[in-house]
Amino acid sequence: MTQRVLTGITTTGTPHLGNYVGAIRPAIAASRESGVESFFFLADYHALIKCDDPARIARSRLEIAATWLAAGLDPERVTFYRQSDIPETTELNWLLTCVTAKGQMNRAHAYKAAVDANGEASEDPDAGITMGLYCYPILMAADILLFNAHRVPVGRDQVQHIEMARDVAQRFNHLYGQGQELFVLPQAEVEDSVATLPGLDGRKMSKSYDNTVPLFDGGAKALKEAIARIVTDSRLPGEPKDPDSAHLVTIHDAFADEAARTAFHADLRAGLGWGEAKQRVVQLIEAHVGPMRERYAQLMARPEQIEDILQAGARKARAVAAPFLADLRHAVGLRPMVAVVPSKATKAAAKSEVPVFKQYREADGHFYFKLTAADGALLMQSRAFIEGREAGAWVKRFKTEGAVALDGAPVEVAAGVDSQQVEAALAMLVAAQE
Ligand code: TRP
Repeated sequence: MTQRVLTGITTTGTPHLGNYVGAIRPAIAASRESGVESFFFLADYHALIKCDDPARIARSRLEIAATWLAAGLDPERVTFYRQSDIPETTELNWLLTCVTAKGQMNRAHAYKAAVDANGEASEDPDAGITMGLYCYPILMAADILLFNAHRVPVGRDQVQHIEMARDVAQRFNHLYGQGQELFVLPQAEVEDSVATLPGLDGRKMSKSYDNTVPLFDGGAKALKEAIARIVTDSRLPGEPKDPDSAHLVTIHDAFADEAARTAFHADLRAGLGWGEAKQRVVQLIEAHVGPMRERYAQLMARPEQIEDILQAGARKARAVAAPFLADLRHAVGLRPMVAVVPSKATKAAAKSEVPVFKQYREADGHFYFKLTAADGALLMQSRAFIEGREAGAWVKRFKTEGAVALDGAPVEVAAGVDSQQVEAALAMLVAAQE
């Protein structure tokens, strides 16, 4: 079976080298594997939770879309779209909101961290916390469940959100699935083999540490300047250096093949100067990033082209999402109001499946009734009545009261029939009266 892989990218910043190595490059590589169907989207609704600067939101969506395309994402092969172009996401968000326990959202890391920070600042616990932040995991569950994704590649900080999506899916399946699995239970995928790239100062490369190397921004010049600022030890040219303790080497290795790595490490041990080493790193990354940067510039110069690609992606995504959402609406009871008129054929079929009571008089002059199954098999036989009316009264009672009337009734269950069969037959008869 093809595996659906889905991931979202929050559109708040400008991608840097760490985003490329840690997320973009592995995701594109994974999308080229056979047997996977990939969904990548710009989580621009999630971006609104973190950022209320419209210009920045607009800019970041464009930059991130252009980055993924320039890095080699093939929109023909994968489904690449904007979250905000899929109205089914917000509809599902509501259906899920109605089955999500508030207590579970209280335990979400991002919300708890915000409450804790307020506590430390002696603020009201909920100061500055929007319902968007509070319900962030539900929207994320909607993103994932709408496409029945099996695998969700994310950073470690997002694992709790995937677990919450599983929980919500399970609850929804239980409430509305009628024994069927409406939603696939998604699995978080944390790539441990992909190194998190260190930044200029050696800490994880992150915008919040202000230690990033730009991916495309500022061109080759900015790349060179950033790499020149990477902190190294103070060993001079000619002195042996330890490649394992230098984050410049980690950055180098993220772009080098095995042979280039070995050579670089050996040269450093043999005394290669940091200045020269940095030049080699610049050349290596530039060889990799340069051609992508050109494609990026072309794309950024023609945003309408990106818009068209994303619109086509939205159509592809909605072709999956819309029919599924229709099923989900039906499952929760949001259905068209049509009278359910059984056709003649179904009425006849239903009738022929119903057991029947028969009243009759034997040669002994007494009156009797019996219950037979739809196929004619005898289920229950009455004793003899002097009056036909008496037999008729019992039949009427059975048809209205069902198995309740069995207690003390002048009847015997037929040989080889168990009483549960009789009770079921009576229940069917009662239902058929209604
Ligand atoms: N919250 C994710 C992040 O910040 C982005 C995201 C939104 C996402 N919806 C998603 C990731 C669905 C995976 C699946 O990284």
